[in-house]
Amino acid sequence: MGRPDRNNEVLQFAGCDTVELAKTFGTPLYVVDEAVIKGKCNEIRQEFLLKHNNTKAVYAGKAFLNLAMCKIIEREGFGLDVVSGGELYLALEAGFPMEDVFFHGNNKNKSELRLAISNNIGRIVVDSLYELQLIEDVAKELNKKVKILYRLTPGVNSHTHKHIVTGRADSKFGLPIKRENILEAVKRAIKCKFVELMGFHFHVGSQIFDNKSHVDSVERVANVMKLVKVELGYVTKELNTGGGYGIFYTHGDLIRPINYFTDAIMEKIIEKCETLDLEIPTIIIEPGRWIIGEAGITLYTVGSVKEIPNIKKYAFIDGGMTDNLRPALYDAKYEAAIANKYIKEKTEIITIAGKCCETSDILVKNLKLPLVEKGDILVVFSTGAYNYSMANNYNNIPKAAVVLISDGNAEVIVERENYADLIRKNKLPKHLEPFV
Ligand code: LLP
Repeated sequence: MGRPDRNNEVLQFAGCDTVELAKTFGTPLYVVDEAVIKGKCNEIRQEFLLKHNNTKAVYAGKAFLNLAMCKIIEREGFGLDVVSGGELYLALEAGFPMEDVFFHGNNKNKSELRLAISNNIGRIVVDSLYELQLIEDVAKELNKKVKILYRLTPGVNSHTHKHIVTGRADSKFGLPIKRENILEAVKRAIKCKFVELMGFHFHVGSQIFDNKSHVDSVERVANVMKLVKVELGYVTKELNTGGGYGIFYTHGDLIRPINYFTDAIMEKIIEKCETLDLEIPTIIIEPGRWIIGEAGITLYTVGSVKEIPNIKKYAFIDGGMTDNLRPALYDAKYEAAIANKYIKEKTEIITIAGKCCETSDILVKNLKLPLVEKGDILVVFSTGAYNYSMANNYNNIPKAAVVLISDGNAEVIVERENYADLIRKNKLPKHLEPFV
């Protein structure tokens, strides 16, 4: 949630006055505190990378990605997970070391694979045998050898929103853990001349507070490691255990330190490798939200306030589901406050709605706030993950700017879109051109 200063009438964030930020850069505005990102990376370093031998951390770029974020992650010495040609292109433009990039996705196409393989991508996480064939074809054409991991569906359930569970048996991602499937997939990968199988990957879901689904998945994947060792003599070198660690959104959410998850994962893998007589592979973690989520806030300006007597009071803001799709998509909950009345007594219950032509464009329901008036600056907390990255142009609304605060200095890292940006790709067919 950043570090708000509770003695100040105006909310201070990362050493900056939030009302000044809104005035200088306009609203809606994503604001990101670099110190929080670095603090999270440092916790991962201390509590995971330095504590356990033979480990790696990869940031899941889908949570929040742009040139500046790539640079921050590179300087932290972490790898990067990309999930599309577009994310990969961004990493290339940022000069991110390609050997540290993991390429995910359940339907990568040939041109994405060509971009990855021709740039010597670190790992491709293969979702199916169909994809293995595509990779083999492209790698052969480019005369490259590609390191891969197989994504497995561990068949576990996680307690989170059904839209962000990925580990269950009927998931669209990965190879189901069935003896015959696994043996065939590993056999085929071993046979491929242009592919080197490094091991396995799983990802059980997102915004998870209980480490049980990670631990259960390690158990199942370790059994797979044993199976392929006994049946095929294949020794697993790497195991990527995905991300998914939950963060603070609203009071009542548990705040979990990284080692709540990582110690449990490590304990389980060590125990299993011992009992099954396996070598301990390199263990990789891949968090996105846990690194960036609490580093971000969003600032909005309140416009109209509407009261429906005995029913509800609404405050309308200048953004909404275009900059934060999560409440409409997942019924996600957020904490919010009036930045310019930060320590004023909260006297009313009010619902914050966006400006889109959509009834579900409600950002926060029944929030306790001081009297809300036009011109107030509303701040929503913990918006660093999956807000900017899921921003959209519904109703032809330009995307908001992103500002990064480092050592008290705020700088734009993604410019606000303008109307011209919105129609830049429009074309008029000849027969619709105006008569001259
Ligand atoms: N690795 C893989 C293969 C993933 O698919 C994901 C997220 C991650 C790592 C990072 O998960 P995290 O640590 O950020 O939970 N749009 C949704 C979240 C979708 C997550 C997709 N995959 C949301 O806004 O909640």
